[in-house]
Amino acid sequence: MRWSCGPTWWTGRETYAGDVIVLGIETSCDETAAAVVDDRMRVVSSVVESSIDQHRAFGGVVPELAGRAHVTHIGPVVARALDQADLDPLAPAIDAIAVTSGPGLIGSLLVGLSAAKGFALAWDVPFVGVNHLEGHLFAPLLETPDLEWPMLTLLVSGGHSLIVLQSAPGVHEVLGETIDDAAGEAYDKVARWLGLGYPGGPEIDRLAREGTAGRLKLPVSMTGGGYDFSFSGLKTAVVRATERDADVALADVAASFQAAVCEQLIRKLRAALEHHEVRGIALAGGVAANSALRAAMVELASDFAVTCHLPSLEMCTDNAAMIAAAGIYRVALDGPSPLDLAADPNWQLAAV
Ligand code: KG4
Ligand code: ZN
Repeated sequence: MRWSCGPTWWTGRETYAGDVIVLGIETSCDETAAAVVDDRMRVVSSVVESSIDQHRAFGGVVPELAGRAHVTHIGPVVARALDQADLDPLAPAIDAIAVTSGPGLIGSLLVGLSAAKGFALAWDVPFVGVNHLEGHLFAPLLETPDLEWPMLTLLVSGGHSLIVLQSAPGVHEVLGETIDDAAGEAYDKVARWLGLGYPGGPEIDRLAREGTAGRLKLPVSMTGGGYDFSFSGLKTAVVRATERDADVALADVAASFQAAVCEQLIRKLRAALEHHEVRGIALAGGVAANSALRAAMVELASDFAVTCHLPSLEMCTDNAAMIAAAGIYRVALDGPSPLDLAADPNWQLAAV
């Protein structure tokens, strides 16, 4: 077993040998995912099976349905990821298993965590529990191995909105977060109010391109001078404004809402850039797929003459490659997790 080589796996590019291979498993929400990644951050295989079609009719993820779907999908998804990586699905030559152990839906997390423990015992390899949010932070690294540090990452998803200062891979500090709804949650709630489908982000993003942003006057909540966000007031403002003006075009509502979300996110990131010397900025999480936010990030990076990392759409949404990548660093820095590791549905991203 190669655990004795410890943190030197990653300290300095020349030690990236590509010979440490990790299986990642992700089941925190509605995606059952498995991936094989090596310590050069090469994604050897990545399989994602989503149960989102089962949730659409309910306007959001139904935890019980998600958990049941994970039980159905976990075995075949892991076998496919190993097979696509040319590894023996019964006895794969891997060095560790990295699995999301929080935050997320408890019934979903338990499926992936239990499976990972079973595989670890069966194959006699160590496993490590990974924070799902830290996984998102690693997505840019998988596509841009020569990322420049330190960097500021805007992590925006259905459950979280954070500004994270990353000094190096696996070393980070949360500067600000939402005090109420997450950005993606606001998209989903506003879309539901407007009678659009679930998830709401892509629907509003598409409609917004046909609308005029200034048509609806919406507040840009600033939550004081820090880096925290707030989106619940904005959602209520959309409801009130559309009640007052029932004839307003949906596309104009979408454009106005999207502009207000982006303005808040970008203003806070700009403030963080003014106070922290970094070499790059990055987007992560499901809302990173948003076209207006991506364009605003590029502009912001150019204002500060720093690099801008925008993950591909597959890397924005939940996948197991990002969990494997985070696991490679976590196990090198902290060692493997004990076999009695519990799932933590509310695991906060702590400073490390
Ligand atoms: O990271 P993710 O796949 O799952 C969580 O961990 O939450 O993020 C899903 C969220 C949903 O709220 C969805 O509406 C939002 O990402 N989303 C978008 C877009 N695509 C997905 N929000 C805005 N614009 C988009 N294009
Ligand atoms: Zn996520």
